[in-house]
Amino acid sequence: MKLYADIRKPGKKRNFMIYGHFIEHFHRQIYGGVYDPDHPLSDEEGLRKDVLEAMKRIKVPILRWPGGCFVSAYHWKDGVGPNRTPFFDKAWRVEDPNSFGTDEYISMCQKIGCEPYICTNAGTGTAEEMSDWVEYCNLDHEGKYAKWRISNGHPDPYKVKYWSIGNENYGFWEIGAKSAEEWGSLVEEAAKMIKHVDPETELTAAALTDVEWNINLLKHSGKFLNWISIHDYWDPIHETNDFANYEACMVYTEHVEDSVKKVRGLLEALGLEKKIKIAYDEWNLRQWYHPCVHSVEQGITKEEYLYPRDKNDINAQYTMADAVFTACFLNMCNRNCDIVGMANFAPIVNTRGCIYTHEKGIVLRSTYYVFDLYVNYLGDQIVDSWTEDVPVKNMSVAKETESVKQADVLVTSFSNRSGYAVAAINKQAEEELELVLELQAEGQVILHYISGESTEAYNDIDREMVTIQHEELGTFQSGMSVRLKPHSVNIIQILEK
Ligand code: AHR
Repeated sequence: MKLYADIRKPGKKRNFMIYGHFIEHFHRQIYGGVYDPDHPLSDEEGLRKDVLEAMKRIKVPILRWPGGCFVSAYHWKDGVGPNRTPFFDKAWRVEDPNSFGTDEYISMCQKIGCEPYICTNAGTGTAEEMSDWVEYCNLDHEGKYAKWRISNGHPDPYKVKYWSIGNENYGFWEIGAKSAEEWGSLVEEAAKMIKHVDPETELTAAALTDVEWNINLLKHSGKFLNWISIHDYWDPIHETNDFANYEACMVYTEHVEDSVKKVRGLLEALGLEKKIKIAYDEWNLRQWYHPCVHSVEQGITKEEYLYPRDKNDINAQYTMADAVFTACFLNMCNRNCDIVGMANFAPIVNTRGCIYTHEKGIVLRSTYYVFDLYVNYLGDQIVDSWTEDVPVKNMSVAKETESVKQADVLVTSFSNRSGYAVAAINKQAEEELELVLELQAEGQVILHYISGESTEAYNDIDREMVTIQHEELGTFQSGMSVRLKPHSVNIIQILEK
């Protein structure tokens, strides 16, 4: 397979926020995950130091919180100040102790060095409650909410720039779901009030690829919005936990761009593509396992609706299929960097996350290393490129067969140094791929990659099968070929000294 690039044109700058993440009050993401005051590895604020370190290594740029479905019945005012009353979380049907709230979240973001991104309650909440939250976080001292923050020991405003109005409010499963018409006017009101409190905020609102929903939303509130929010989980297994196999996951890689194409088309038709960017603020190959919760029959016993969630914790489920898919999604975001400005892997800790916590430490799952590769070795500018002789194979998912490209390649350059970095994914389960680099470049070639013994390789406690390997390949010459291992994610750097 041959790779060419048009190096005469300047590269397009991608937004680093496409490597963002999400954390929700769900299962062991917050409590027993990143926040665990009784754990010996936690700091004075109850945050797991090993988790924070892992987050720093992948330079988490932005972290969406507190939900997800959780937020649609969450009242932020009960989660600040000295008196925290536990409440029943109606989305996930558990008691939330309320000890992790806005101040704890902001402190966590400050420790990681990432932008906070707060998703508001547009289910049972009101426009006023949302804008009160912005007052609490962003006003210097005016009004009772800023004063409340100060009296809680936080004199400096948090300056939270990114706010989402709602989460999946189109879905019948969401507490306080809305019709398309209701949504348009609620977002308009909320956005207006938030912008009156702090005009420097950037706002998004829950959306999907549905034309009627989005037209209503954009007609009412397009003038206030900077972003439109979409979510996707390709392997639909929240009721079954029945994982698609490697081949089926490769079929899903053919569909990572579907939603972006649809939303881009709509924004272009409305002339909004320069003003409103896509925030892909929840995405993952596989849905989270939580039987009954997205259905009318809720389940009576905890055996039916609650305990099965622990199956999300089985590390052996997160293999090279997840890693290869994750890389294909990130290539897609990079390629569409003119319209996709943010993406949030869902979630970052536990459940389907890339970091798993246990009593003695953490496990970094295969997907973690994809972020490590992309964040630490890839360039920040996207160069136009094209390929020849990409192998193609018929593959199946749920009895449907499709022809699937067996490789995905992206060329990047660096704004702060000369050289290139190519993200090259070999999706083939068993075969190596020879990639011929027909590039006009100079420098030393270093290959950074993850692969694992088989497509089923995974990491677990005391077991590291998937990590980054590095190889020096010598001086670059145009036409040089690099052999990519089966089921591998590679960054090929060509760097001038
Ligand atoms: O299953 C977790 C949920 O997935 C998130 O809360 C929601 O936003 C998405 O549907």
